[in-house]
Amino acid sequence: MEDTLKAVDAKYEAQKLAFGPLFFQCVVALRDLGILEYIHKNRNGVTVEDITGELKLTDYGVRVLLEAAKIADVVEYIDQDRIKLTKIGFYILKDDLTKVNINFVQDVCYDGAKYLTESIKNNKPEGLKVFGEWDTVYEGLSQLPEQVRKSWFEFDHFYSDDAFPFALDILFKAKPKYLFDIGGNTGKWSLACCKYDPDVKIKILDLPGQLNVARKNVEAHNLTDRIDFHQINLLDKFQKIPKGADVVWMSQFLDCFSNEEVVQILKNVHQAVDENTSIFIMEPFFDNQNYPAAEYCITATSLYFTVIANGNSKMFSLEVMRRLIDEAGLYIEEESALIGHSFHTILKCRKR
Ligand SMILES: C[S@@+](CC[C@H](N)C(=O)[O-])C[C@H]1O[C@@H](n2cnc3c(N)ncnc32)[C@H](O)[C@@H]1O
Repeated sequence: MEDTLKAVDAKYEAQKLAFGPLFFQCVVALRDLGILEYIHKNRNGVTVEDITGELKLTDYGVRVLLEAAKIADVVEYIDQDRIKLTKIGFYILKDDLTKVNINFVQDVCYDGAKYLTESIKNNKPEGLKVFGEWDTVYEGLSQLPEQVRKSWFEFDHFYSDDAFPFALDILFKAKPKYLFDIGGNTGKWSLACCKYDPDVKIKILDLPGQLNVARKNVEAHNLTDRIDFHQINLLDKFQKIPKGADVVWMSQFLDCFSNEEVVQILKNVHQAVDENTSIFIMEPFFDNQNYPAAEYCITATSLYFTVIANGNSKMFSLEVMRRLIDEAGLYIEEESALIGHSFHTILKCRKR
């Protein structure tokens, strides 16, 4: 964006960043105290007295939040006394993307976020210590507090779920018989694949904590005869991906790693496959989006990777991913942008 702001406006924008965390907490409080919902239900507007009476809150509490909400364009005054939600307020209350992002920031990122500077200096996710002593969030994922885990999974799944139906169509054009789902997490994708194709067999590869969760889910769906598991830490270059896949699938997986680690992992894939194996990479690339909000969310997610997840990865641009794929000795056979339906682009690759 060209820097065309007048000084007075630029100074105002800078203050929005300065106080951003307080306004964020204000919005969370308005939502969690039921104030936004109550205002929304009463479309003709409500007064502060209506809110305090209905929600048993103090006049002070409601006013302090609403004064901030007004300046943040979350609510507006219809007349001198009556308040209604703005469109922004409506999105905060009802929009799934916004809800998932707010919960993720509040539960997963907020407490640790102040360690961002330290994370950059030390190349470590210093904010993760608010939850436990792990090198990466993935090692501790299954042990995070319930609410944190819930928000983490809702965030992760929200971004990949919309892509599923389109991604299944693209993947199954390759007619997989034995599919490796690398970073398969809870097994959600593998279960969807088994439902889509009654014959496909799958191996989920992941860290031990996630594999335990995936195994339980697979057992609950009676699919242990079609889905097996392989425990692996792909940061350890001595742990080799087994051979045998005719299709390899990696969704929202490579963004958990630095550029050097991605090349190392893709070389590990390279040693496990032959020229007939299709290798699919599905990622939300920040430079391949239609809406500014999408690019904004994806870029912001990189900061979570820095301070909470691993300290050294971030969301990719398509351009960088193309280079890393090439460095690993693979080439892209087909690019499918699901943009419009989801945030993702699928790269179908092969060994050179
Ligand atoms: C962001 S999740 C993606 C899950 C799923 N594929 C999806 O699209 O929603 C990343 C997955 O990679 C796994 N992972 C992260 N680091 C790993 C490592 N070093 N070795 C193996 N798996 C790892 C995590 O445990 C997690 O299940």
